[in-house]
Amino acid sequence: MDLFEEKFSNSMISDVPLLNRITHYVVKRKGKQMRPMFVFLTAKMMSDSTLINEKVYRAASIIELIHTATLIHDDVVDSSDKRRGFFSLNALWKNKIAVLVGDFLLSKGMLLCIDNDDFDLLKIISKSVKDMSQGELLQIEKARRLDIDEKTYFKIITKKTASLIASCCALGASASNSSKSQINKFYELGEKIGIAFQLKDDLFDYGNRKIGKPTGIDIKEKKLTLPLIYALNNSSESKKKWLINSVKNSNDYVIKDIISYVTEMGGIDYTQKKINEYYNSAVEDLKYFEDNEFKESLKKLIKYVIERNY
Ligand code: IPE
Ligand code: IPE
Ligand code: MG
Ligand code: MG
Repeated sequence: MDLFEEKFSNSMISDVPLLNRITHYVVKRKGKQMRPMFVFLTAKMMSDSTLINEKVYRAASIIELIHTATLIHDDVVDSSDKRRGFFSLNALWKNKIAVLVGDFLLSKGMLLCIDNDDFDLLKIISKSVKDMSQGELLQIEKARRLDIDEKTYFKIITKKTASLIASCCALGASASNSSKSQINKFYELGEKIGIAFQLKDDLFDYGNRKIGKPTGIDIKEKKLTLPLIYALNNSSESKKKWLINSVKNSNDYVIKDIISYVTEMGGIDYTQKKINEYYNSAVEDLKYFEDNEFKESLKKLIKYVIERNY
């Protein structure tokens, strides 16, 4: 990870001073770097050599570049002023600059593939970028109409979040010269991890734990996530009306009431149950691959996804 961080930081260099100041700010406030870890562990799991080749490092950098770009854009979309415990780019430099910096990082990721003829990686990652934009847009459409059902919710999180984590595993496998069917299997496994990951993220929004970004913001943005969808599905007509109206006209007090009601109705427990289901299914998929020490580490990383505190 130390070697990776150096390469990742270099991948953002620009000859525009403002851009360098901003990317310096971004790199200094790093996240959990879970996605590069998925790339490295799948790559090592599938490789005969103990050395990590340059292509794997590039795959990890591309993923983290794109992840960072989407977070910067996501904070504009969600009007969120905090990220990783500090101010978001839109809070510090305004939307205009945040949008352009996100585009810069996205293009740097794409160029890293193209300049090295990594077209197998480019193919995998481009699909995710498309899926992520579609996921965020479908989410906005549903937030405007407040008519989301469970199936659509899973479609949104699969596209906006799970597709990138699926790509991490597929990229790692591809950079280690795995077969097509192995790469596909890793994609499916990563998708399950990604769904569990976003379910967990959506649960954080219902708590008041310090997670380095705002909580309660999903309801404020009219994002109906699984706990609320479950509560809605299990409410009487009059309670349903109250709930929808409360989301429409939410303020800090109403949000507290919504959270208590959703908890009482079992929305949190139901979501936790779903997290466990996706987790178990992902671990089950690992049986398809030969045992080695990296597979054990990967298992631990998957466990971390569902047990993490931020
Ligand atoms: C946050 O991802 C965005 C979601 C998909 C929920 P992470 O929680 O992995 O963000 P960092 O990189 O660790 O900050
Ligand atoms: C995930 O959705 C964002 C992306 C996939 C870019 P959220 O909006 O829930 O992510 P956070 O909570 O802001 O990190
Ligand atoms: Mg957000
Ligand atoms: Mg969130």
